[in-house]
Amino acid sequence: MKNTFGNSLQITIFGESHGPYIGAVLDGLAPGIDINDEFIKKQLLLRRPSGDISTKRVEADEYSIVSGAFNGKTTGTPLCILIPNTSQKSADYGENAERLARPGHADYTAFVKYGGFEDYRGGGHFSGRITAALVAAAGVVIPELNKKGIFIGTHIKSVGNVNDRDFADYRADIDYLSSETFAVLSSEAGEKMQEIIKKAAAEGDSVGGILESAVIGLPAGLGEPWFDTVEGVLSHALFSIPAVKGIEFGAGFSGVNGSGSEFNDAFFSENGEIKTKTNNNGGINGGITNGMPVTVRLAVKPTPSIYKEQDTVELNSGENRKLVINGRHDPTIIHRARIVVDSVIALTVYDLLAARFGTDFFGGRN
Ligand SMILES: Cc1cc2nc3c(=O)[nH]c(=O)nc-3n(C[C@H](O)[C@H](O)[C@H](O)COP(=O)(O)O)c2cc1C
Repeated sequence: MKNTFGNSLQITIFGESHGPYIGAVLDGLAPGIDINDEFIKKQLLLRRPSGDISTKRVEADEYSIVSGAFNGKTTGTPLCILIPNTSQKSADYGENAERLARPGHADYTAFVKYGGFEDYRGGGHFSGRITAALVAAAGVVIPELNKKGIFIGTHIKSVGNVNDRDFADYRADIDYLSSETFAVLSSEAGEKMQEIIKKAAAEGDSVGGILESAVIGLPAGLGEPWFDTVEGVLSHALFSIPAVKGIEFGAGFSGVNGSGSEFNDAFFSENGEIKTKTNNNGGINGGITNGMPVTVRLAVKPTPSIYKEQDTVELNSGENRKLVINGRHDPTIIHRARIVVDSVIALTVYDLLAARFGTDFFGGRN
């Protein structure tokens, strides 16, 4: 069991979908970081369901920071964020309740691993609900990264056969995305994507898509090869997000079909700074940042809860059964997952920076 991630900055997450609280503990934060409540609330709002392409389970996400903060700043001791669950609807979850494993969910695998003792209500510890804790925790560190000139942004690259435009002016695009609830760079593409999502919803089905992220302003030299390469730690962290099924950096899988002369990123020097003319390597060479934008794409699977009848097994009896899921579910989670992706990248990048420059690189002493 591993619910803690990171080295210099460690995050522990806890809670279940239908328990009283979810939350996170951040250990290793620098003292003197301003806690920007407005920013944390804004980030949580971007994760919350909204509009007719989202679940109707809407949580207030009224978090409290119960340790590690004093007079609006971090103290440097473990910072614990608690978020109450208020909108959970528990159907019949008594001891003898049926356990119909929902395809695409962790019901069966959690049953095997935790021997039936798991709190399975609403997906329990595997619910997307837990990602609110990641978003709140990252809300503490993102403004601190911004102060260092580091900015992170994610857009919905594709849904079905509809593609958003590529990042162009990274800084302007990241600023634009930071307040969008459906994060696309082309509103025309966004409308077409939402049509696809609504069509799936009308059919009781769901869709996935591809998210693309960029991190700008990172200094060259971050990353701890062999095993804590930048690709390695980012992949590890990003695969913790429920429904993420694939990852690629830079030009990615399709980029490797050309020749070395096409793929190599030629260097040039400008005002004493070394840069590359292209960025097929996604800002990373040998697992170490080279100072170019770090670019990463994630495959997000179609939401597993669908309204169509599915075949399954009742876990206690082992009987073959039919399953029809009722309740409140998103026909896609891609638009809500993107702020979770930004958050996980932020926590990982903070950790890499603290590993290289020390935990006091951030906060009030600098
Ligand atoms: C922000 C967020 C919200 C999610 N909401 C839902 C949801 O409403 N319904 C659902 O079936 N899955 C939802 N998921 C995905 C499931 O939690 C996930 O697919 C499931 O736990 C199995 O994990 P896996 O897909 O990583 O194998 C959500 C994921 C995220 C990141």
